[in-house]
Amino acid sequence: MKGIILAGGEGSRLYPLTKAVSKQLLPVYDQPMIYYPLSVLMVAGIKEILIITTPVHKKIFENLLGDGSNIGLNLSYTIQDKPRGLADAFILGEEFIGNDSICLMLGDNLLYGDGLTKILKESINQVEDNENAVVFGYYVNKPEDYGIIQLNQNGEIVSIEEKPSHPTSNYAIIGLYFYPNNVIQLAKKVKPSLRGEIEITSINQAYLNNNKIKANLLGRGFTWMDTGTHESLLEASQLIKSLEKRTGLKIGCLEEIAFNKGLISQKDLKKSLQNIQDSPYKNYILKLVTRNE
Ligand code: G1P
Repeated sequence: MKGIILAGGEGSRLYPLTKAVSKQLLPVYDQPMIYYPLSVLMVAGIKEILIITTPVHKKIFENLLGDGSNIGLNLSYTIQDKPRGLADAFILGEEFIGNDSICLMLGDNLLYGDGLTKILKESINQVEDNENAVVFGYYVNKPEDYGIIQLNQNGEIVSIEEKPSHPTSNYAIIGLYFYPNNVIQLAKKVKPSLRGEIEITSINQAYLNNNKIKANLLGRGFTWMDTGTHESLLEASQLIKSLEKRTGLKIGCLEEIAFNKGLISQKDLKKSLQNIQDSPYKNYILKLVTRNE
């Protein structure tokens, strides 16, 4: 399975923060936003990742993350010249995806919790063994802000709706989606919505019509946030700060995850210090290196 992070869009809801800076590069406490979705893909064991960004911001993402080899990844970049919807990612990424299955994560989503590795692995198996699409449901207070799923007693999806004014459930669909390879052809067939975008919800509806989509619910032990508004951006920063302060452990530290996952050696980790400026971040990696010497 390969991965795509969608980091395009205008971030209009965050204006003027996004007038000169890409939304997905804004800080979530101590790291750029994109570190968090990238760390989720790494936890899922995905190594080949395409970052879709805007013509203006591509170079900046490349400067930040390079080819990913320092963290054991293979990163590439492509441009979405204007927002055509989330499902456009599969059309833009057709060549990159090749014959593989694909995971899409939205660049402004943050997911954290114990047991994440297991649930992501199981989801990949559901896609690769049974050709099912997999989405994740998370109980929220304001479902009308999201795509939502309604489930029956067996946990099967009965309906999917995008930002309904009268939600039939509290389960939001988070911005992390797993699909078999046929999502590319589906995306090409989907008709743009009234706002002129190829909606991810239309893709999910097509899988539902064929009885080929599963929902994995993320329970109360997980934290899912999207960081697309001023309030949610601040709340995400506060949450990360509280958790990191309490434990002394970082969330979404790419070098640490790469090392823990065996993507890079202790020697590589030590070498990565050469490219990190003197900072609390460097001290954290240094501690990690010495702890493992
Ligand atoms: C998008 C999707 C929505 C999903 C959300 C998760 O909404 O359309 O179904 O629940 O991401 O972050 P957007 O935030 O682009 O409005």
